[in-house]
Amino acid sequence: MNSKTLLSLAALIAPLAMAQTTLKIDLAKPGIPVSPTLYGLMTEEINYSYDGGLYAELVRNRAFKDDGKTPVHWSVVQDTGGGAAIALDERYPVPATALTTSLRLDAAHAAPGHRVGVANDGYWGIPVKPATRYRASFYAKTDGAGGVPLTVSIEGVDGKSVYAQAVGGRISGEWKRYEVTLATAGNVKPTADARLVIATESPGTVWFNQVSLFPPTYKDRPNGNRIDLMQKLVDMKPRFLRFPGGNYVEGGSVETRFKWKETLGPIEQRPGHPGTWGYRSSDGMGLLEFLLWCEDMKAEPVLAVFAGYALNGENVPAGPGLQPFVQEALEEIEYVTGDVGTKWGAQRARDGHPAPFKLRYVEIGNEDGFDKQKNYDGRYTQFHDAIKAKYPQLKLISTVNGKDWLGQQQKVTSREPDLIDEHYYYNPMQMMNDAARYDSYERKGPRVFIGEWAAQEGDPTTNLHSALADAAFMTGMERNADVVEMSCYAPLLVNVNPGGVQWRYNMIGYDAQASYGSPSYHVQKVFSNYLGNVSLPVTAQKVGTQTWQEAAPKETPQLLPPAREVPTMFFSATRSEQRGEIYLKVVNAIGTAQSVQVELAGAGKVAPDGKAIVVSSAKKEDTNTVAEPAKVVPVTSKVSGLGKEFNYNFPPYSVTVLVLSSK
Ligand code: AHR
Repeated sequence: MNSKTLLSLAALIAPLAMAQTTLKIDLAKPGIPVSPTLYGLMTEEINYSYDGGLYAELVRNRAFKDDGKTPVHWSVVQDTGGGAAIALDERYPVPATALTTSLRLDAAHAAPGHRVGVANDGYWGIPVKPATRYRASFYAKTDGAGGVPLTVSIEGVDGKSVYAQAVGGRISGEWKRYEVTLATAGNVKPTADARLVIATESPGTVWFNQVSLFPPTYKDRPNGNRIDLMQKLVDMKPRFLRFPGGNYVEGGSVETRFKWKETLGPIEQRPGHPGTWGYRSSDGMGLLEFLLWCEDMKAEPVLAVFAGYALNGENVPAGPGLQPFVQEALEEIEYVTGDVGTKWGAQRARDGHPAPFKLRYVEIGNEDGFDKQKNYDGRYTQFHDAIKAKYPQLKLISTVNGKDWLGQQQKVTSREPDLIDEHYYYNPMQMMNDAARYDSYERKGPRVFIGEWAAQEGDPTTNLHSALADAAFMTGMERNADVVEMSCYAPLLVNVNPGGVQWRYNMIGYDAQASYGSPSYHVQKVFSNYLGNVSLPVTAQKVGTQTWQEAAPKETPQLLPPAREVPTMFFSATRSEQRGEIYLKVVNAIGTAQSVQVELAGAGKVAPDGKAIVVSSAKKEDTNTVAEPAKVVPVTSKVSGLGKEFNYNFPPYSVTVLVLSSK
């Protein structure tokens, strides 16, 4: 017998030698109602989530404000050489718009056969797809008295292949908006090695502003979202969307907070603003677009309002100075929920959506535990009193008071928040170690909104090890549905190109052409799709453990914390009364299969056949990428031999949902 055979025998024998794990699901007990809003999404402008991500605009720096000195992402096109040049120009704002900086093209030597123009390189390329219609638009003016004719094209970066082209019109001395359709042929090979070019063969100076290019969008919305990403989000069946942040709602400073009023109306009216993650936001994804995004996912908004604290430490204490911000929040709520007879409801109708949106949750600020002034209690109280006076039905969320590290940095004592936002970013072992945190959580007091959380391993999107830990943590949420009302993983989206990633561990990755869900994405989707309305009591016995050695704190590397024994399996069970189904979720966090004896105590009939949805892979480091998007994905299979008692073998490194029919 060679050593390889010995090893595989050992692997076979190990689980048999272990005491049999048993799991009892008690159907005789009434169980706990599960919040219909348990699983949702959290979003903000980070990792090029909107610009260069979900928001389908393909032109980068379309309003020329991304850099104050040079027209970044723009270049001169002059196929036959010459002295053409481009520069930013602030002398000619487009009247009655927020378009104050334009791009000047000096094309004095343009002539028939000597094309001169401007090119945009997009967000790491412009995606060219076959049989696709793109909508290009731009503002332009010229100094040429006779007018300058322009052509618009999507072409290869080397200028050799032209994928789509249209005549943009004859440009006059006055600013005017032009729009053309660019259609690719059916036999075009998909590529992102492309650019948008607007060029002329007539001499003159041309100014451009708000140059835009949209591919087809989800539900064909004119200022809409990328289809592949929207489909992935819709497939998750999220019950809510927490927006606009995160740090993004706070702003780098009070001045650069998310000013929702400046994100409304036609895009030429939106000045954009410096984001909190190192790049400027076009604000094409504005307040109404967030709400439409919710509508398209059949999710409800969880609206975070600016609460007087910005990331640079600027702080507006409670009192008259804070009142304008409270007023801003009240108006924002009116924009979302007011009927057309209200000032801001009427504005929403003018923006194209007369029907009010359903809103039940408003979050006051974000991560105020970081605020060194420690005056959130007063700020929260001022927002609370004003919002409750006008909208008593709204549930208000505090960003402190939780049992997470941040939540304990200060307290809200003057008012009782309806919900507490807790944030947990852990490595997978730490997350598994913490998976039972809500089993012993204080039952009195507000319920919990886990507004940001993730197991963090795998860069720029998380791997299977993280997904196993995420699933372990979610079994804890489901078992404790009386404590946890809502949860959302963060961050949601990442453009995986170099320079696109500001946060290392994310759920959905993409480049200009393609997108994929990480193993964490698939686990989230499966958990959300198979969720009952009642959480059933589960008792597990003889669950194996694995040893986890936590790293020593950086400040005291000599103080190694004691090693811990962390469970290798995690469980939850919910019942859908409507569908007559039980969803048993089991995580096997180790690299050997584990067998479990399951008992459905007090069950009526349990059908012998059911199905299993399994997310697993050979190695816990396995993951998905743009190049290999489906390495770790859910696999659904039929299962037989189920009943009130059955034995089930859970594969190595797996998350399993067993769907049982029970009357
Ligand atoms: O999710 C990324 C960031 O983490 C959020 O913007 C912030 O709220 C948290 O610190």
